[in-house]
Amino acid sequence: MSKYMFSILPFNSTWRTPLWCLWLCSCHSGPDAVSLLNERKGARNKQVTKLHKKKRSSCQPVLDHFDQQYSQELGDLWPSARAVLLDRHSWQYGVMLNRFSTVTDITQTLQSQGFSLLLPQTNVSTLLCNGPSTILISKHQARKDSLLPPQYISKCSPNDSYVQPESPSHALGRDLQSEALSLACPSLQCYIHPYPLRFPSQAHRPGQLKQYYLLNAASLLPVLALQVRDGEKVLDLCSAPGGKAIAIFQCATPALICCNEPDPHRRDWLAKTLESFVPHSLNSRVIVSAQDGRSFGQREAGTYDKVLVDAPCSNDRTWLYSCSGQQGEQRLQERARLPMLQAQLLRSALSAVRPGGVVVYSTCTMSSSENYAVVETVLNDCPEAEPEDLWEEIAIPLSKYFAFSPAHPGHGQTLHKPSPQPQNGNVSSYHHRLGILVVPQPGKTWGPMFLSRIRRRK
Ligand SMILES: C[S@@+](CC[C@H](N)C(=O)[O-])C[C@H]1O[C@@H](n2cnc3c(N)ncnc32)[C@H](O)[C@@H]1O
Repeated sequence: MSKYMFSILPFNSTWRTPLWCLWLCSCHSGPDAVSLLNERKGARNKQVTKLHKKKRSSCQPVLDHFDQQYSQELGDLWPSARAVLLDRHSWQYGVMLNRFSTVTDITQTLQSQGFSLLLPQTNVSTLLCNGPSTILISKHQARKDSLLPPQYISKCSPNDSYVQPESPSHALGRDLQSEALSLACPSLQCYIHPYPLRFPSQAHRPGQLKQYYLLNAASLLPVLALQVRDGEKVLDLCSAPGGKAIAIFQCATPALICCNEPDPHRRDWLAKTLESFVPHSLNSRVIVSAQDGRSFGQREAGTYDKVLVDAPCSNDRTWLYSCSGQQGEQRLQERARLPMLQAQLLRSALSAVRPGGVVVYSTCTMSSSENYAVVETVLNDCPEAEPEDLWEEIAIPLSKYFAFSPAHPGHGQTLHKPSPQPQNGNVSSYHHRLGILVVPQPGKTWGPMFLSRIRRRK
């Protein structure tokens, strides 16, 4: 039996849509999510090996659908994103260390293999002395409200971050910015490699904490955007297999984190992940609950400081490798149902968060109907919800590692009218505030990942 508390709230008996069977997949979590399967097979990789996946061909109906949809939505970015998605040897995995275990030996191994930190840990005094004169932050200020203080951000246009060639001064500016971003979450250590090397996943050993979790590094961005602080109450509304809950624990020690997952099989998986990464001393702060996330907000209205909705979605990577054309077709049909479920989950999250609290909505699809359109739909009927700009806070500082696509200007206009109208700024800055999208590109193969941050007005 799991050592974690389970919510006494019953699983909603009206739940009848087994949509999760469609996303019984590794989602954003990379090979760690399949490590349990490997463990069962007794796999014991001892060395870092080049990523060799069993050759599986892509599913033609899904690829045809993507070609049609994404060439329209992503324009010039689609052919290169397509090339990455179709070349599984190019896929990368980050190694997120577990701050609750001893990691010295792993750190040394990673460094000797050429891995380096995604968010370099910075000596603040060095940054202040050597950085440009505009940098006037203290460690305290940098952590306080925003991940990155405004004076620290270059005012380049969104497109600069991935289209324009890098000048040395831009690159330096971004290094400093991403280092400042690490101040917001100084204990989060994720190692990445410039090449698609695969670090072996660790076997589950009852009673022993794992040292690291393998994941798509873009999965960390929603957690960075959530800005969890020590002592806060956090809800992870769609939690299994638990990668982001673990990442939250690397950033801070919440007073309480409720990890919700309605699928029993995936909930077991979640409980096992938590058991492998969270020490006994913090058990009382973790609740695993089994509710339908759509009704969670009604039951626990205004309870949480931070809510993460890492929504069930049409996972582009997994869906492209559907087992058969028939499964691919079935998934594409289900795709049409997802935005309604996602909007219900996001509304529920906005009810569960306290006034002044923050909700982060994320998916691992590039589909605008599951991303910008969902956020916009919910904003249209939640006047108390205020979207926040993550472009300057996250996309610009981390553009050295991730390729971000700005929302196409026509997006919201054709899908939904932005309403209420943005108070400050024009429609294009409003579109920035709807969210940011990580699009896999050669050399920056992380993603897909969409994230949007919405604050509930006081
Ligand atoms: C993208 S995955 C979450 C991944 C997880 N956050 C992580 O980082 O490991 C989405 C999860 O939402 C769950 N889900 C599906 N329908 C749901 C619902 N109505 N309420 C809450 N969770 C749901 C799925 O079973 C699935 O485990």
